[in-house]
Amino acid sequence: MVIVMAPGASAHEIDALVSVVERAGGTASVSRGVSRTIIGLVGDIERFETLGLLGKPGVADVLRVSVPYKLVSRENHPARSVVRVAGVPIGPGTMTLIAGPCAVETPRQTLAAARMAQQAGASLLRGGAYKPRTSPYAFQGLGEDGLRILADVRETTGMPVVTEVVSAHDVSLVTEYADMLQVGTRNMQNFALLQAVGDCGKPVMLKRGMNATIEEWLMAAEYIAQRGNLDIVLCERGIRTFETATRNTLDVSAVPVAQGLTHLPVIIDPSHSGGQRELVLPLSRAAMAADADGLIIDVHPTPEEALCDGPQALVADDLAELGRAVREFPPLLGRHLT
Ligand code: E4P
Ligand code: PEP
Repeated sequence: MVIVMAPGASAHEIDALVSVVERAGGTASVSRGVSRTIIGLVGDIERFETLGLLGKPGVADVLRVSVPYKLVSRENHPARSVVRVAGVPIGPGTMTLIAGPCAVETPRQTLAAARMAQQAGASLLRGGAYKPRTSPYAFQGLGEDGLRILADVRETTGMPVVTEVVSAHDVSLVTEYADMLQVGTRNMQNFALLQAVGDCGKPVMLKRGMNATIEEWLMAAEYIAQRGNLDIVLCERGIRTFETATRNTLDVSAVPVAQGLTHLPVIIDPSHSGGQRELVLPLSRAAMAADADGLIIDVHPTPEEALCDGPQALVADDLAELGRAVREFPPLLGRHLT
């Protein structure tokens, strides 16, 4: 960390800062220039962050040199991590397909969607029992009944379950049923929820906030990691831009950028980003070409009857093509479908 003093800062102000840093267990190296003085700090940066250095007399700026998300950064952990969800690996060397209905509606619909997902090559089942909806009048999910349906379908198909939790209060209940907890785009900066899933003892999928920068996304992951849970998978699901032709704009560049900054796996959700069935296959191909660690995709046996996001759900006819893509593309980049 570097403190840049204002031009004309007094010797007394500089000495006072050095004392503050030393009292916090750090060392401070003072470099006096013609017009400005720079103080380089070595020590516990998180501790320095709490000292209010920017507000001290004579300080013009405080610059952090290392990344602020130390637990999830590649700076401190160069090897890329593999996260296992009930034994299914997500990370380098593999392509993991997670698929299923957007929302759990009935046992029959969920089982049918799970069978479709399996046929396409999915090893993990997705499905929402708690739905974060824009409108309070829209279908909000079946709650615990939906979780029970997911558990039954896991029993029948053998597919581990990925499901969303929208409130810190529900984390312990959802943890009883889920193999991986999902935090959705709307909750990426719900810090109480992030801390609760950090304590849950199960892997977490953290979707990127639709208005979040990559650094904000990694800081959100740091909240989970800080509670001791490093089984985190990041999911890029499209961001808000001026473009209205798609539901959101898939930021494919987030895959290599995030993989360069963090050791955590990075997957793509082409369904929620494009918002249209026809876009799911091309966006999936783009994700695989960008070397994403996995895909999460909506499927539905009868999307015209879906209670949430029917237009983006793949139907049986689409699955052969998707299955071919997830088997044929990844080996070109040294991955195989898990
Ligand atoms: C995801 O499944 C969300 O709940 C869904 O995309 C929200 O859609 P809405 O904005 O129509 O409520
Ligand atoms: C979902 O995957 O069900 C979902 C709500 O997605 P997102 O948070 O990306 O909108």
